[in-house]
Amino acid sequence: MKKSFIIIYLFVFALISCNKQREDSIELRINKLIKQMTLDEKVGQMNQLSGVGLSEDMIEMIKSGQVGTLLNEVDIETVNELQRIAVEESRLGIPLIIARDVIHGFKTIFPIPLGQASSWNPEIVKSAARVSAQEASSVGIRWTFAPMIDVTRDPRWGRIAESFGEDSHLTSVMGVAMIEGLQGDTLSHPSSVASCAKHFAAYGATESGKDYNTTWVPEIQLRELYLPPFKAAVDAKAATFMCSFNDINGVPSSGNTFLNRMILRNEWGYNGLVVSDWGSIEQMIPHGFCKDINDAAKKSIFAGIDIDMMSNAYSLNLSELVQSGAVSISMIDEAVANILRLKFKLGLFDNPYTPKPDNNPFYKPRSLELAKQTAIESTILLKNKNNLLPLSENIKKIAVIGSLADSKIDQLGTWCFDAEPENSITPLQALKEQYGSKIDIVYEPTLLYSRDKSDLNFKKAVKAAKESDAVILFVGEEAVLSGEARCRADINLPGAQSELVNEIKKSGKPFTMVVMTGRPLTLEKEVDMADAVLFQFHAGTMTGPAIVDLLFGKAIPSGKLPITLPRMVGQIPIYYSHKKTGRPASNITFIDEIEVGAPQTSLGFTSYFLDAGDTPLFPFGYGLSYTTFNYSIPQLSSTSINKTDTLTVFCRVRNIGEFDASEVVQLYVRDDVGSLVRPVKELKQFKKIFLKKGQTEIVDFQITAEDLSFWNSDMVKRAEPGSFTVWIASDSRSGSDVNFILE
Ligand code: GLC
Repeated sequence: MKKSFIIIYLFVFALISCNKQREDSIELRINKLIKQMTLDEKVGQMNQLSGVGLSEDMIEMIKSGQVGTLLNEVDIETVNELQRIAVEESRLGIPLIIARDVIHGFKTIFPIPLGQASSWNPEIVKSAARVSAQEASSVGIRWTFAPMIDVTRDPRWGRIAESFGEDSHLTSVMGVAMIEGLQGDTLSHPSSVASCAKHFAAYGATESGKDYNTTWVPEIQLRELYLPPFKAAVDAKAATFMCSFNDINGVPSSGNTFLNRMILRNEWGYNGLVVSDWGSIEQMIPHGFCKDINDAAKKSIFAGIDIDMMSNAYSLNLSELVQSGAVSISMIDEAVANILRLKFKLGLFDNPYTPKPDNNPFYKPRSLELAKQTAIESTILLKNKNNLLPLSENIKKIAVIGSLADSKIDQLGTWCFDAEPENSITPLQALKEQYGSKIDIVYEPTLLYSRDKSDLNFKKAVKAAKESDAVILFVGEEAVLSGEARCRADINLPGAQSELVNEIKKSGKPFTMVVMTGRPLTLEKEVDMADAVLFQFHAGTMTGPAIVDLLFGKAIPSGKLPITLPRMVGQIPIYYSHKKTGRPASNITFIDEIEVGAPQTSLGFTSYFLDAGDTPLFPFGYGLSYTTFNYSIPQLSSTSINKTDTLTVFCRVRNIGEFDASEVVQLYVRDDVGSLVRPVKELKQFKKIFLKKGQTEIVDFQITAEDLSFWNSDMVKRAEPGSFTVWIASDSRSGSDVNFILE
């Protein structure tokens, strides 16, 4: 025993010292190279351009060392030629980094990040990112701009699609999983891709959910809600950061010294590189923060932005700013060191070229299987009246209604530049492949696309429903309605889809509604009409096989909402970790219940809407299964702990239904009284477990004072003594609670 311990110790020690030696040698190589570089060559490394193809201008810029990294070239031959020019025809032979947005897949497309968050399965998110990195790196891409870890509470914002939802903890866990998947075990491996924690910071707080809009975030909320996923990214060794387009309290991130230097560098000790967003340095001029491009370049380098993506602010101004003494050369050297460090860590100096793969690196069977499983785990069962689902395989006829049942491009979702829709398998396709020989499948697209306002085909759809044993109605958003600059002030179903749901309801046939969307939608009426609802944030290449397995019970829904589903857009922002207020909602009187002529004092004076009440349509963490899970009242290892203790909270979860299935067990905590009012509850941990029918598992969590701490008005993160309430539950609105004291 002792001998094996010594061997392990020596091995670990050797590994650590090997890494340390490698890092030291990289620093030596960086310093040596910087000493050889001219000022223009240094500024060239700080310039990132979108370059596709081998233009004469681009070739000339690479030869003369005016560009350090390119984005958007994805042809392996071109990538290798661009790299050859940099390595063999420029004065110092510094290799390029080729970058591309690989947000939820390169060729094999996984669910959009909001969908992946719905799986509450970090392991599968990590595996999906690993496959994405393997596919992307096979053409020479070694840097991608993911994960997007902007917490947001506003479904009007199109980029909610790329986020992991409203919760800081869930976003942190998913962001780290994606970073680890992209970067692999070591960055120097050819299949590893540098990740990019973006958009730093508080981009998801955009006012009114309108993209690029201003944000006003008190520092306490910045630290409580928006920064933790980025700190988790630093701890997970995210290779790069990207600043955001928005201003925070009047200072655009691209010129925000507080964010990029005080917090990221000084407080967190980050030594990776920071890239601007596309043109965001120049955009400080329309922001009204910089008077011209020269001013923008200066404020950005002072704020610690190492690379200028597509503003040409640095390439046209930095040399002159240094020569005039306005910017110190040490600031330039620091930025160049960050850039060279990444190139050394990626192994690009030693292996700059991408070998042509021996066989097709895309759509491998195991990649497609993983994409299907991710889509399955990302799908949320919102309703299942009378256990309509799963469908019996003995049905004779099924009506499939709605064009989203067969839209190869829309099921992929936003931000998938290199996807090949022809390789998508749609629900209709999968249904025909699996059941076409024994079930009569009647397909009625009815609406040509989600915004189609025509009711010309409604009668055919209703006829098909009436004549079938099962009815599956597909509704939602086209992919083009979500993503960057795709904000909607009205988040109802687009087009005449809601009217179509109403017509199918009038057919009298029970029906399943499958929602495919890039954001939460306001679906109260439609959910009320449907008998069963499967909800997907655009689920990628393998949406079809996933949906069909779920419809027929070959797979059991386990997804949980990573974002609250509002009843009405006017409720936004509506989220689970809200404050209690001095008048929590009670004695709610809805608008239609008020008697005509009722006096002003007749209504209860508490916090709710007359027309929407105070609850969402479905809460954060919500998702049903085909089985039923029973939770015991949580139990505690102690009713009080001090600041150094660890409290164990546990409960029995039992599968009392008819299907073996997974369940996401969630731990929520409330600080009952604080020096600042605290949220009604906060997600602290979660575990996804699998239980055979009839099986019981004791699920336990450990809580320390660190878990109970929060940023106070002295800007100190600290746990305060007092009473705490804890839940172990299936979602953010259910479960029994127990109390304990922190001494
Ligand atoms: C975009 C996005 C950013 C993306 C970058 C490069 O405008 O804001 O997320 O990575 O440009 O495409």
